Amino acid sequence: MIELLNSKHERADFDCGKDLLNNYVKTQASQDVKRKLAACFVLAEPTSSLIQGFYTLSNYSIPLHHFPESIQKKLPPSYSSIPISLVGRLAVDKKFQGRGLGKILLIDALKRCFEASLQIGSFAVVVDPIDSEARVFYEQFGFISLPDSGKMFIAMKTLKELFQ
Ligand SMILES: CC(C)(COP(=O)(O)OP(=O)(O)OC[C@H]1O[C@@H](n2cnc3c(N)ncnc32)[C@H](O)[C@@H]1OP(=O)(O)O)[C@@H](O)C(=O)NCCC(=O)NCCS
Repeated sequence: MIELLNSKHERADFDCGKDLLNNYVKTQASQDVKRKLAACFVLAEPTSSLIQGFYTLSNYSIPLHHFPESIQKKLPPSYSSIPISLVGRLAVDKKFQGRGLGKILLIDALKRCFEASLQIGSFAVVVDPIDSEARVFYEQFGFISLPDSGKMFIAMKTLKELFQ
């Protein structure tokens, strides 16, 4: 079950192979949640509460001129900044990688963003890949590069076809 991070979740030994993300879930995620900077969703082993994987969601915005020209043309120029949903971080513990959990977490994040967009405007879901391998991971789900920031996006309109 994917649920909000809580104090019962066992995170001390979480290791996805990337220190930045390991340290985030161990030391910063709870603070971010308290401060309402991010919501952190966790997939944990039911008996041990050991975190198998997690992702974070936040509201965010991207300058209009960061989007590809084909997209810019379809948006009103008065919007200098475009509201989006940010999957700031996503990781699966090495012990559980390669079993489809990353995909499950990403689809869950996309569905949640799509459902939220029905109530609060959001043009796209944006991810912030940590390295080139992560870019390849997101590309296979249809994410497109935003060259100015290194981030990647998928339009909410595309998700509508999947989730509605
Ligand atoms: C990237 C990551 C989340 C993938 O998690 P996972 O549970 O191993 O991935 P899955 O088993 O769900 O794989 C889903 C698909 O992605 C592919 N994939 C998995 N890891 C990949 C990688 N590093 N690069 C490219 N493709 C990858 C799989 O082959 C699979 O494809 P398939 O459905 O055609 O078989 C995980 O490797 C991880 O936490 N890495 C370190 C942190 C990281 O890079 N986070 C990404 C965003 S910052």
